[in-house]
Amino acid sequence: MKEITVDAPGGAYPVLVGAGARHRLAEVLPAGAGRAAVVTQRSIPWAVDAGIDQEVFVIDEGEQAKDLGSVEKLCRAFSRWGLTRADVVIGAGGGMVTDVAGFAAAVYHRGVAVVHVPTTLLGQVDAAIGGKTGVNLPEGKNLVGAFWQPAAVLCDVETLETLPPREYRSGLGEMAKYAFLGVEGLSDLPLDEAVAACVTCKAGYVAADEREAGRRALLNYGHTLAHALETVGGYDLRHGEAVAIGLRFAARLARRLGRIDDASVAGHDALLDGYDLPRRLPADADGEALLTAMSRDKKAVTGLTFVLAGRRGLEVVGDVAPAAVAATLEELRP
Ligand code: GLY
Repeated sequence: MKEITVDAPGGAYPVLVGAGARHRLAEVLPAGAGRAAVVTQRSIPWAVDAGIDQEVFVIDEGEQAKDLGSVEKLCRAFSRWGLTRADVVIGAGGGMVTDVAGFAAAVYHRGVAVVHVPTTLLGQVDAAIGGKTGVNLPEGKNLVGAFWQPAAVLCDVETLETLPPREYRSGLGEMAKYAFLGVEGLSDLPLDEAVAACVTCKAGYVAADEREAGRRALLNYGHTLAHALETVGGYDLRHGEAVAIGLRFAARLARRLGRIDDASVAGHDALLDGYDLPRRLPADADGEALLTAMSRDKKAVTGLTFVLAGRRGLEVVGDVAPAAVAATLEELRP
């Protein structure tokens, strides 16, 4: 079992990565936790045992259920069960579950401890680590949320064995992002080591910039277009698939802005070609709707804003001309 410490300013916490990590739940609960509210979904085949009085709270499936309504339902159910600040919430499932459970834990009674047991590759390498919690609005992804660090995260790679192949591949899209953040040789590593390498990389960014005042935004490489594709909707894309398109887009936008050359774009493509993920925009992608959605991105404080490669590595670049973005979208059409 690998143990990585996320040295968050509010307190360090462990991330255990390995086969059977979910069985360590009882030992990572906050000291004195009396009861555990386990938040999960019907489709999650993995039960968790907190070793204390526990109750399961099921939330609906699908991105459309990642909303304030689900948080309200959850908090009301917590209240009826009598959850107190001395108890703990467990988020057991994919990124949607840990985002919603984490946000409910952050706001219920103004904050209850939470432990995450991510059961998807995407959750293990990204969503469950680092304390970002939240839900979507019709206007965009993750527009309402809170930073609420978990007390511990258990990344049990056994739970990835039951993932549908497409869901697993989607996780690889998020994993590919780490290659551009300097994690080398990911595709040659055994799965537990690859997950641990991504967690270690992310832990460094979270420790340095918990609230995304600067450096942490680089973890969103490829995500401005990815989130826009998901917000506009109707494109049959999983998150990691959208990120893979977003990474190719970001490379082409950086080239258009004179930040990188053809060889660097080819380098992006070569790395991403190693994954069985979409390479182009959906045929019916609506450029104008995507531009509007990108302008509402959380990073967009000064106009259209992207994480882009350049001579100094990845940087957040604001005030990108809409015409350059629109022309780059055209480059990525099938
Ligand atoms: N998913 C990006 C972050 O946690 O900062």
